Amino acid sequence: MNRARVLLYDSLMSYAVISTWKMSLNGALIAGGVLKNGGTTLEAIKAGINDVENNPDYLSVGYGGLPNREGEVELDAAIMDGSSGLFGGLMGVKGIANPIDVAVALSKKRLNCLLCGAGAEKYARLKGFEFKNMLTEKAKKQWEEQEVKDNELLSLASYNGHDTVCFAARQENSLAAGVSTSGIFLKTPGRVGDSPIVGGGLFSDSDAGAAAATGDGEDILRGCLSHEIVRQMEGGRTAREACETALFNHLKKMDRKNLKVGPISLIALGADGSFGAATSLDEFAFIYTDSDNPPEVWIAGAKTGMEKAAAERLNQYARD
Ligand code: GLY
Repeated sequence: MNRARVLLYDSLMSYAVISTWKMSLNGALIAGGVLKNGGTTLEAIKAGINDVENNPDYLSVGYGGLPNREGEVELDAAIMDGSSGLFGGLMGVKGIANPIDVAVALSKKRLNCLLCGAGAEKYARLKGFEFKNMLTEKAKKQWEEQEVKDNELLSLASYNGHDTVCFAARQENSLAAGVSTSGIFLKTPGRVGDSPIVGGGLFSDSDAGAAAATGDGEDILRGCLSHEIVRQMEGGRTAREACETALFNHLKKMDRKNLKVGPISLIALGADGSFGAATSLDEFAFIYTDSDNPPEVWIAGAKTGMEKAAAERLNQYARD
């Protein structure tokens, strides 16, 4: 791309990125840069998520992700393009260096776009995607130190063991959402959460909005929460109102059923230009950036709504 073209994009592009947890701050910066230079929403999400997948310090995503009960790292990822309606996803894959890259490739297909296990790995090998050992020494040590007792397993909540990285991006009128995770620490081999399931862990429709979720996947799937958020935006709610309404209604319903629910956090971008989040945690850190604002950490709280994180409090979120 020549310099004149870059400058033109700089001055004209209207874009936005929202992502979960402070761990995605650098990824949001990268994703914003992709959009600023005229890249697509899928390219931006892929680049942002790659930054988190490649970082061994994050024990919930990609390389360095915590393993299942048998000590194997099983990864899920998905992406949905809200303009074409196409999506791609991978479930329970081992050894794929960047699952989101394969999800993006699959999202070009109408059929055979959601693959699991051995079939997904075979596809990735055939297409030349990189494979490597995704279990780091740090993650292995944590697995070895964990006493796997049934009662302890039952008490393991997602926020003790994992946090999915979720991105939503808007480029002009085009929206998309993408996610990547190693799932719940010590999960049963073969277990799949909400992340690669369209409507559960992510959903995007450029006419309404894009949304994604983090928390125990089973809890999120029970409410098809990402689809519900987009449906709320379609009905006229802003991204924040949609996240809050979807979460509130879901928790109320689960309560009526006497079903215990772990913490859930939601993010969304609206086709109306709004952004928002909601959480059942006291504090949930997310990142927001757009064509007028650099990436910043925001905090949503179950009781406090959402606000920009005060600079002096940022180190409190160092582990997110
Ligand atoms: N939210 C990711 C999972 O439950 O696996």
